[in-house]
Amino acid sequence: MTDLGLETDFTRFPALLVLGAEPFYLTRDHQGGYLLLSAFCPHSGGQVHDRDDCFLCPVHGWRFDLNTGQCVNGPLARMYSAPVAVRDGRLVVEGDLP
Ligand code: FES
Repeated sequence: MTDLGLETDFTRFPALLVLGAEPFYLTRDHQGGYLLLSAFCPHSGGQVHDRDDCFLCPVHGWRFDLNTGQCVNGPLARMYSAPVAVRDGRLVVEGDLP
């Protein structure tokens, strides 16, 4: 289990988090749930950046939805993700990190 911190500490989404040495984005999906997305592109591992209207991988230009990580301009692909649960007011990833 990975504890991401107090739910109330996150007021803006997506939120960039560094866990260990790896970057992730905490997002909210369209149902209001939380998702943790790996910032490494599912294509060839470029680092995906938040460009306000999407996540963008600069390596080959794939773009991803800011809420779900679904690729919006290319193949049927999505950013690696893990569901985030709320436990006693804290956000936690109960399984493996994406
Ligand atoms: S590595 Fe990201 S689009 Fe190719």
